[in-house]
Amino acid sequence: MPDKTKEESIPTDQLISLLLTLEEDVINEIESSNESATALRLRVFGKDSEFVKLTSNIKTIPKDEKTRCGIVLNQVKKAIENALSKKASRSEGITDNDWIDLTAPGTQPPEGHLHIVTQAIEEITQIFNKLGFTRVRHPEVDWDWYAFESLNMPQNHPARDEFETFFIQSSNIKFSLNKQYERIKNYQMVLTPHTSNGQVREMEKGKLPIRMINIAKCYRPNWDVSHIPMFHQFEGLYIDKNVSIGHLKGVLDYFAKSFFGEKRRTRIRPFHFQFTEPSFEVDITCGICNGTGKLPNGLTCRLCKEGWLELGGAGMVHPNVLRAGNIDASLYNGFAFGWGVERTYMMKSGTQLDDIRLLYGNDIRFLEQF
Ligand code: FA5
Repeated sequence: MPDKTKEESIPTDQLISLLLTLEEDVINEIESSNESATALRLRVFGKDSEFVKLTSNIKTIPKDEKTRCGIVLNQVKKAIENALSKKASRSEGITDNDWIDLTAPGTQPPEGHLHIVTQAIEEITQIFNKLGFTRVRHPEVDWDWYAFESLNMPQNHPARDEFETFFIQSSNIKFSLNKQYERIKNYQMVLTPHTSNGQVREMEKGKLPIRMINIAKCYRPNWDVSHIPMFHQFEGLYIDKNVSIGHLKGVLDYFAKSFFGEKRRTRIRPFHFQFTEPSFEVDITCGICNGTGKLPNGLTCRLCKEGWLELGGAGMVHPNVLRAGNIDASLYNGFAFGWGVERTYMMKSGTQLDDIRLLYGNDIRFLEQF
């Protein structure tokens, strides 16, 4: 009976001839087959492949013949590998003529830049930083308490009409029941119509003096050349002892000169806000007619008509607001101002934008100019 544990020996020349025939057959198959190089590789070199079977015969051939046989085996393997790689390259569209110059400069990807509103926010932040005002962030969806009630605008007060806003359903929102939230938890939440909600939130931190600049998104249901439903405001708040309107005017002038240019001046006009007393509207001299209202050709300036452009609101913080923020109104006072980032940016000399909506149109041809 033949010994099954012993593999049958095969003459060396026959093995070499079988290997060379295999090489020719396999390469022909690789060239003509529609199978992928990966699938072919698995079949050609797989466990049950003809190649593996023939390779296992090497151990049965005499020792002094092994080297000759090994060399042929390696050449056959290399030739098949080569054919497989070429097939793989062909399917990726790479030909023998393709080459890569590793020293050639790469293709420059298109380079973007910060949005102009973001640039304006950074510039505004830096100007106020120089005066010691620190940029802070407060919620853009906030309780009615911070957006209205703590700012001296109780429920149903007509002053709220100025800030027509989007209220949101908040009954399912759970809050930790510390004292503060218990007091406000029954009220609604609102997409903040102004950054003044940050005033009492900042006071509640309990650190005095306060010099904050709060820049955030605001929401109002408006849409025309000078109004958008989502815009940004920057809110300054200074609380200390013996703060005067003179300090407010100094800060306004410093900002106007730094942001718009040395020649620009500001003025304050009496106005009404529930959360400041006295309250002002802040105007800045027009950059087109230099505050004269007239153009060099004698015509009236179309942008401002009278030499001044409105920047935003300001005033001395109302004692009720200080009290809502747990500050002793007999010891401390301060000023606040809140202006639109987009409108302030549009007033900057040189930009001459006549429609605020351009800023959010996402038109690359427009944005690339800045
Ligand atoms: C306020 O929002 C006050 N909270 C400002 C304030 C703060 C006064 C602190 C006193 C003390 P007003 O509604 O005027 O005020 O808005 C201020 C500025 O926000 C406007 O001058 C304008 O620049 C900008 N603004 C208001 N609504 C829009 C809008 N829909 N689109 C773009 N900008 C807007």
